[in-house]
Amino acid sequence: MPEQLKVGVVGLGIWGQNHPLVYDDYHRADLAVVCDLDEERARAVAATYGCDWTTDVSELASSDVATFSVATPDHAHFEPARTLLEAGKNVLVEKPLATDLAQAKELTRLAEGSSGKSMVDYHLRWSPDWGLVKDAVEQGELGDPVMGYVRLSDAIEVAENWLSWAGRSGPHWFLFPHTMDLVRWIIGQEPRRVFAAGHRGVLAAKGVDTWDCIQAVVEFDSCQVTFETSWIIPNGNPSVLDCHASLYGDKGKIDLDQDYAGISFVNDTKSSYPWVPLGKKDRWGRLDHYMYAPMRYFVDCVLDDRTPECPLRDGLVGVAMIHAVLRSLETGQPVDVQELLA
Ligand SMILES: NC(=O)c1ccc[n+]([C@@H]2O[C@H](COP(=O)([O-])OP(=O)(O)OC[C@H]3O[C@@H](n4cnc5c(N)ncnc54)[C@H](O)[C@@H]3O)[C@@H](O)[C@H]2O)c1
Repeated sequence: MPEQLKVGVVGLGIWGQNHPLVYDDYHRADLAVVCDLDEERARAVAATYGCDWTTDVSELASSDVATFSVATPDHAHFEPARTLLEAGKNVLVEKPLATDLAQAKELTRLAEGSSGKSMVDYHLRWSPDWGLVKDAVEQGELGDPVMGYVRLSDAIEVAENWLSWAGRSGPHWFLFPHTMDLVRWIIGQEPRRVFAAGHRGVLAAKGVDTWDCIQAVVEFDSCQVTFETSWIIPNGNPSVLDCHASLYGDKGKIDLDQDYAGISFVNDTKSSYPWVPLGKKDRWGRLDHYMYAPMRYFVDCVLDDRTPECPLRDGLVGVAMIHAVLRSLETGQPVDVQELLA
């Protein structure tokens, strides 16, 4: 019988439910407990997988389960993550690490002082497409990166209907963590300065008080990249996602479109670019999508005593870049990211 790691999951929403799905399926993991403030949801997920449930994170801190995912809303990662890190647990935190710079610093401090393992779920690092871009840059296809453009936006239904806490987040907290981390990881450079412009009003008029869209230029060591995000793409867009990227170097250029996987469905009333279905097994009973890889990888790191990719410090740098975006929007001035991190 192979060694199995007991794991628990905090936060069982639209995305969070992927964590118990993967742990229940993975032969090296034993899903022991799930936790959600919503008791009915916690009971229902526990019944599906035959595990324990609770609504109280402090019960998890004193339990014999040593490894947890935290998949609460963007603004609510801090309390459960802090409680679990303080208890010396291994913690996989969803992106963004936090929506507050001081909180991100505190979680990073706790993680770096703990003997437990911790990681941010930057799952796009496991995407085969983005992996190809990283390989190409490492193999010198581009030469030295000099300029980039990355757009990751969502259809307005994400802000209006999917997330009850959308007004406490925004396209910046929800989507920039992915693209900003990817670029930093791919080009291997640190962010220096950020300058941003944005628009508000469309979502606010619908009762979601956050930014509609933002464009931010981030100067890395020797390459500047424009990051663009929006939560007001019309729902008639063929994909819920709108993702395009270009990276230019002194020897080459790479373009990536991630919203169109090469297949479209069209009938009299709609045209769509379907996504690989998430949240369920394929017809052969497997969970092979790359978005599930970080959970299994984290279990492997704990069992095999390896240091995971995406340490909380990478999450902190992401939070600092987004904090710089917000400060630049407020002041109309460029903001020094390294000063924020000091
Ligand atoms: N890795 C990714 O690419 C990816 C994709 C989508 C979402 N996410 C992230 O996953 C997180 C969760 O997103 P979601 O779509 O599942 O949200 P959701 O709103 O559908 O679910 C959140 C759940 O957390 C519960 N909750 C809130 N505070 C809690 C607390 N203190 N303790 C226990 N439970 C609590 C809520 O009751 C709810 O069931 C977000 O941070 C989101 O950005 C990551």
